[in-house]
Amino acid sequence: MTDRDERGHDERGHDVIPAPRAVEGVDRGAAVLDAGTALWAAPGTGSTERWLRGTLGAALGLPFPSGAEGAPDSVRLARNSVRLLVDGTLEPEAYRLGVTSDSGVEIRGGGAAGVFWGAQTLRQLLGPDAFRRAPLRPGATHTVPAQVVEDAPRFRWRGLMLDVARHFMPKDGVLRYVDLMAAHKLNVLHLHLTDDQGWRVEIRRYPRLTEVGSWRARTRIGHGASTVWEEKPHGGYYTQDDIREIVAYAAERHVSVVPEIDVPGHSQAAIAAYPELGNTDVVTASMEGGTAPTVWDDWGINPNVLAPTDNTLRFYEGVFEELLGLFPADKAQFSRFVHIGGDECPKDQWRASPAAQARIRELGLADEDELQAWFVGHFDKWLAARGRRLIGWDEILEGGSRAAGLEVPAGEAAGIGLTQGAAVSSWRGYAGGIAAARAGHDVVMCPEQQVYLDHRQAPGEDEPVPIGQVRTLEDVYRFEPVPPELDGDRARHVLGTQANVWTEVMEDQARVDYQTFPRLAAFAEVAWSPLPAPGERDFAGFERRMDAHYRRLDALGVGYRPPTGPRPWQRRPGVLGRPVEGRPPVR
Ligand code: ACM
Repeated sequence: MTDRDERGHDERGHDVIPAPRAVEGVDRGAAVLDAGTALWAAPGTGSTERWLRGTLGAALGLPFPSGAEGAPDSVRLARNSVRLLVDGTLEPEAYRLGVTSDSGVEIRGGGAAGVFWGAQTLRQLLGPDAFRRAPLRPGATHTVPAQVVEDAPRFRWRGLMLDVARHFMPKDGVLRYVDLMAAHKLNVLHLHLTDDQGWRVEIRRYPRLTEVGSWRARTRIGHGASTVWEEKPHGGYYTQDDIREIVAYAAERHVSVVPEIDVPGHSQAAIAAYPELGNTDVVTASMEGGTAPTVWDDWGINPNVLAPTDNTLRFYEGVFEELLGLFPADKAQFSRFVHIGGDECPKDQWRASPAAQARIRELGLADEDELQAWFVGHFDKWLAARGRRLIGWDEILEGGSRAAGLEVPAGEAAGIGLTQGAAVSSWRGYAGGIAAARAGHDVVMCPEQQVYLDHRQAPGEDEPVPIGQVRTLEDVYRFEPVPPELDGDRARHVLGTQANVWTEVMEDQARVDYQTFPRLAAFAEVAWSPLPAPGERDFAGFERRMDAHYRRLDALGVGYRPPTGPRPWQRRPGVLGRPVEGRPPVR
């Protein structure tokens, strides 16, 4: 008897998360997997074959001997086998998982990715022990109830953004998150690699970016109103080989890694490393009183932004050249995308800087917003010329029309200064995404009001370093990525959706796990599962399925927030977040 049987859970795919499109029982029997179960992998299914042996095989102690070479018909008749096939009649990420008592398990995917997602469903059907790394009972047999699961994703882009700049996540942690994403059928890892507080990727031609920019002397613990400081250096970065490993590991799991180099704001770490990148005629010196900023040790929006010079453009072209080599365009579905940030760039320095003002005049621009659009537009065209697609936060739509030399009133022509392939991460609500889709750009919906997982997940004093507004598991579950303003062709510009994990107040894996789970499971269902009917998501049903899912997360070692609230060691008494009751909000 399996654990699931003992606890009385539904065995026929009905507790799978994210929920599949359709599950049908076949008979009352079950397929049995044991040491004799053969694995037969047709051409094009190699990534799933390797994953099944390495992950499921290790967890359950199943050796999966290879099925007879090139003999699908005889194998199909074999009772005891798992068979993987590509079936061109299905969509690339769709799959059909068939389990019968007399012919074992068959996974057909429209493409290699579909086969892989089908294998993820098989793992869930095998119970929580399938999520461990070694067998609890070597030699045990494992049953999968007979059934047919037909499934396909609602959205193509099912993303998670990890902010590895504010707090560095060592490489092992990133690889672990790729596996956690794959277990939830998420397929885009957006890595926020640079910010004021740290530069996290080795760039060979500019060694000071990591020598100087990858660490800070100390860190404020909590948000702006907190007076607690950790007086020890924080830092770390990925070598180029680390990045190659992450990208390859993710691609094996059909996950695209989209790197973000945030320009022209959020750039103080780069300016600390190479002060000439800053507006040297008006620079805001570091708190320590030097003439150049240091890597920032605080949170909020930073006044030190890039100078709009040719030197800055050439410097970042050099950064992006190395980056394109590290993130090849053909690795996975969305590997062509490069994120250039573009968010929260205060214009005060450009207003005050005689050099920036001269640049605005020389370029014939109206103001600082158009200077930002010109800056973003430069890298949009630069990336497009190299076969890549720019993606940026929704501020990239601002000031766009005149900077492109077009006489169109701003607002009506959002994003018109961008190439058609440029896409927008809509974070300040839906509005940017709606404007971008109307202008023909693709959109990833990630509004902070719904899917910023740094936001507190319950009211009350117990939440560790609570920031933002309360976003419960149910709030995330009820998030709808396509707003009613978009329909037909325009809705098709919504590539998908993404949850964002900003780490100002998440200093280690335990904090990241706590903020991310269980809400990422709800988000995965938003991104993958069909919408029953507008406004009709069954949260009570989801919560019931979460009973089984919490045991999977336990077996994986995920430090999620329990439904009853934080465990004692997950609390952080005395450390203030934002906003703090009775005090003005500090950003
Ligand atoms: C953002 O949250 N600043 C994109």
